[in-house]
Amino acid sequence: MPEIILGSPPQIQTVQRANALWTILHDDPRFAFQGRAVSVANEQDDAAKLAISLSRLQGYASCHFVKRPNAQGFSDAYQAAGLNPQIWEQYWGRDSAQTQSHAFLQDFQVPEGLTLKTVTHATSDETILKICEMSLEAGVLPVPGSVMRGEGPKGLFSYVEATDGQIVATGGAFMAYHEDSPRADEAFWGMLATHEAWRGKRLAGWVGAQLIEDMAEKFGARGFSSGVKPDNPSSQAMCSRLGVGPSEYVYVGAVDPAAFGDASVTR
Ligand SMILES: CC(C)(COP(=O)(O)OP(=O)(O)OC[C@H]1O[C@@H](n2cnc3c(N)ncnc32)[C@H](O)[C@@H]1OP(=O)(O)O)[C@@H](O)C(=O)NCCC(=O)NCCS
Repeated sequence: MPEIILGSPPQIQTVQRANALWTILHDDPRFAFQGRAVSVANEQDDAAKLAISLSRLQGYASCHFVKRPNAQGFSDAYQAAGLNPQIWEQYWGRDSAQTQSHAFLQDFQVPEGLTLKTVTHATSDETILKICEMSLEAGVLPVPGSVMRGEGPKGLFSYVEATDGQIVATGGAFMAYHEDSPRADEAFWGMLATHEAWRGKRLAGWVGAQLIEDMAEKFGARGFSSGVKPDNPSSQAMCSRLGVGPSEYVYVGAVDPAAFGDASVTR
């Protein structure tokens, strides 16, 4: 089956390179992967240097779980290397994610005509293309079709479909950390996007909460984190509502301007 990767040309190149790199690095606990970019899993020896190398190879990389006061040191090192730093709040939750998502689902009334589905091997290319298009329109870079279908890191990709086949909300979660690392039971969760016409109906909450329940059941995920920009109040509210809230950590991304200019890899 041909691979499906959508995005701008630099985004596509980053995702292709990242997936190729992951076949080489997947057994190294220093790194994390959520289907779009290989990153440094946490603050560790040479973390900034590793992120710089990954960014040069892929066009973009970040370091996860950086304590906020240490972010400046990473940014300075990136800038000295000619890369642009990009900081994301790392929203994070363990017990709170499971209890609040469970409570959300108990309370949620499924809107008539909408169905929540998970991508499987049987999902058609046409549906995957529609998922990618909707996600990109919302400013969220989708993972490749093969990763959605479960051929990459362990994880799930879900979507809400209307009776006419329109995709109205999407999201995914992946066991991003090595099984020998202290974050072995943690997932990168999010990539949530709701079609503009369908926002404010708690659809992202539905997708996100169900992903948390399913990742816990299928893969034993106990922690969930996601990158949220300080200027994205809807994402902040939605994540916090599901028990994935502000933490002492940030992701410090390094963008290669030769690949992306000032653009962002995702929202
Ligand atoms: C963020 C996004 C996915 C939210 O989708 P949505 O389906 O409208 O969200 P929900 O309706 O499930 O909202 C969840 C909660 O956030 C709250 N919320 C939504 N938009 C909000 C806003 N602009 N300001 C404050 N709170 C907001 C809702 O009230 C709801 O809380 P409640 O359940 O207590 O009422 C959607 O706005 C989107 O696609 N944005 C662009 C892409 C993006 O930023 N994705 C997240 C980055 S990973």
